[in-house]
Order: sequence, then structure tokens, then C-alpha cells
Amino acid sequence: MKVEETYSYKTSSSKLVQVAEIASRYKGRPEMLMKVIIQVQKIVPAFSASVASVIAREMGIPQTDVYSFVTFYAMLSVKPRGKYIIRMCKSAPCHVKGAKEIVRALEDLLHIKMGETTEDNRFTLEYCPCLGICEVSPAIMINEKTYGNLTPDSVRSIVKMYIREEVED
Ligand code: FES
Repeated sequence: MKVEETYSYKTSSSKLVQVAEIASRYKGRPEMLMKVIIQVQKIVPAFSASVASVIAREMGIPQTDVYSFVTFYAMLSVKPRGKYIIRMCKSAPCHVKGAKEIVRALEDLLHIKMGETTEDNRFTLEYCPCLGICEVSPAIMINEKTYGNLTPDSVRSIVKMYIREEVED
């Protein structure tokens, strides 16, 4: 999602209704902001002040939190990214439960490092903030699906399903 420097991009009211509908499903759950942003990204071409304010209002979180999240995320999104974006949770509970081994397994399997995209543009590896499923850490998200309780073996099996295109997106 493109972040307008001045946040002056105007979003139509019908799109804002859709944004509100998405964000309201996660009222009082700030940890789901990432999921909301990913879904909103599909319906609005650029981030605007009104989008941020609708998300903040519907989720019951400060608007500045929405801005910092999107700005952080936009920095990661400038490079071309793959069809499947594998996001590794970088927050402490996942770290403690072995995120490092999961990252190693992913990098070895795909022959790329975190932050990179495979040459065939199918996979991108990147870090993200807490996915909101710490109870099953370590966790990843592939596009919009989350996977938890991972081990190096299980994450390899999951990604291999994507390599073979056996997962409906
Ligand atoms: S810390 Fe990884 S999902 Fe929350």
C-alpha cells in the first residue's frame, strides 16, 4: 500500500464503508491490525487520513498506531514481492519459542534471506510484528493464512505445499 506523505489522498465513502466493515470485526483487538491492513490493502489504492481514522475508530485504537504500522509496513513493501509473502513474527514470544530455527529452515528451503524474493517471484520472506496468535508461537503468516506451533520440519512441509501449488489462496 502506498502511503501518501501528507495523507491527503481522498478515499471514496463507499470504500470507507468497506474499510469500516473489515476493521469493526476486530474491535478491541489491536493485535489484529496487521490482518486488517492486509485486507484493507485489497480495496483501497492508497492509504489516506480517512482510512486511518476509520480503522482506528472501528478497532478502538489510536490513529497514530495505525500510521506507524502502515509506515513501517510500507518501507518493507517498496521492493517487488512474491506471489506468496511469508511473514515471520518477530515479537518476543515467537523469538523465545524458536523463531530463529524457523527462519533458518525457510531461508535454506527457498535459498533466499529474510527481506528477499525468489528469482521466480513466487516467495518473499519478511519479518512482521506479532500476528496475534502468540499462544501457538512460533508463528508465520503466508498471505492471509496463519500457521503456528511450528518446527523446522513442519514449516518445510507447509512451504512445500505452496511450492507445489497445493494450497488455495
Ligand atoms: S509473538 Fe509471535 S504471534 Fe505473537
